[in-house]
Amino acid sequence: MRIAVLGGDGFVGWPTSLHLSAAGHEVHIVDNLSRRWIDTELGVQSLTPMDSIQERCRIWKQESGNSIQFHLLNLAREYERLKQWLLDHRPDAVIHFAEQRAAPYSMKTDRHKVYTVDNNVNATHNLLAALVETGIDAHLVHLGTMGVYGYSSVGAPIPEGYLDVQIDTPAGPRDQQILYPTRPGSVYHMTKSLDQILFQFYAQNDGLRITDLHQGIVWGTHTDQTRRHEQLINRFDYDGDYGTVLNRFLIQAAIGYPLTVHGTGGQTRAFIHLQDSVRCIELALGDPPKAGERVRIFNQMTETHRVRDLAHLVARMTGAQVKPLPNPRKEADENDLIVRNDQFLALGLQPITLHEGLLAEVVDVARKYAHRIDRTRVPAVSAWTRDIARRVDHDPEGRKLRAV
Ligand SMILES: NC(=O)c1ccc[n+]([C@@H]2O[C@H](COP(=O)([O-])OP(=O)(O)OC[C@H]3O[C@@H](n4cnc5c(N)ncnc54)[C@H](O)[C@@H]3O)[C@@H](O)[C@H]2O)c1
Repeated sequence: MRIAVLGGDGFVGWPTSLHLSAAGHEVHIVDNLSRRWIDTELGVQSLTPMDSIQERCRIWKQESGNSIQFHLLNLAREYERLKQWLLDHRPDAVIHFAEQRAAPYSMKTDRHKVYTVDNNVNATHNLLAALVETGIDAHLVHLGTMGVYGYSSVGAPIPEGYLDVQIDTPAGPRDQQILYPTRPGSVYHMTKSLDQILFQFYAQNDGLRITDLHQGIVWGTHTDQTRRHEQLINRFDYDGDYGTVLNRFLIQAAIGYPLTVHGTGGQTRAFIHLQDSVRCIELALGDPPKAGERVRIFNQMTETHRVRDLAHLVARMTGAQVKPLPNPRKEADENDLIVRNDQFLALGLQPITLHEGLLAEVVDVARKYAHRIDRTRVPAVSAWTRDIARRVDHDPEGRKLRAV
């Protein structure tokens, strides 16, 4: 297949591009490199030393003999170029990762809220409108998030996209399936909820073939392909805005930083290892919906864990301290989470679940590149409201502790 990977320079997009290229597909990365600019804005860098995207593609060609083409394009701003690109390349499938994906970044200031909505909603809508206008019948696979559902304890498993409901009508009760209600907990999650409505409309109105993958928090850093050469190494975010919870615990442990647990740590979240994430995307590509079918929605996660349990697991493994901090987010202190993922299991996914070997691999990577970490960028300080901002701890390590 000819596959366009939109956002293919990112944390999940790069290993996905390599995985699909290794499987024999013709891969085109389309990215505006905004994520690299955001690192510059925030004054942080990936824990791992990432080469330019052009250099990464050159090394991949040298290692595998397969080409990956890179195209610099802003999906949210360059609608006419996007249309022309689709006409010129006529992909069989489009994987859409190209959004601003950090909840804390989306909540930093009003400017970050505006940017996130503008970038994410326009990127998705431009793509949908361009597919219709060009008549290209590509299967669109989008990366959404489990976070659209919010994290209140419902007591029942979260189904894969749709909920059976019964509506009382004058003629008696009627059964219906509706999109499972979203309850976004940040501006970022709100944009992913809006994406769902855009997909529903374009599938129903124009017969676009769309799969929406509601992904859990991705952890790990290597895949079979990124291990093949030092310069194929993946991005690894550790900072308070882009670093995600388990990966952050692992780097904190590696550099002797306390494991920063927000609130009671009673938040339960869904997780998936990076290797499974790329595998799930491949499985979804192989099973497209037909034109006229509703959007196919998968829960792309393999396990759920409570944050404090993860912190204690990493602490036991590494001897790190656990430090509870005031929560910068507005969210429930404690929640349960049960998620169905039957569709990927039925397609043959054999989940890689959390085990010490893989956790230790991340700690080893973090130790190797520890010299690249700016400790002042580790705390998560983007607060969800002005009131919450007053209680955020900007220096969880504490001066005294650092001096010791
Ligand atoms: N990382 C996770 O834990 C996680 C969890 C759930 C869902 N997701 C979703 O998966 C997708 C990829 O996540 P990631 O961690 O790889 O993010 P990332 O920020 O590392 O990668 C996103 C890529 O998209 C590009 N991009 C952003 N806006 C663009 C635009 N307007 N035009 C062109 N390119 C643009 C960025 O430059 C970047 O390379 C995101 O949509 C995210 O919401 C990620």
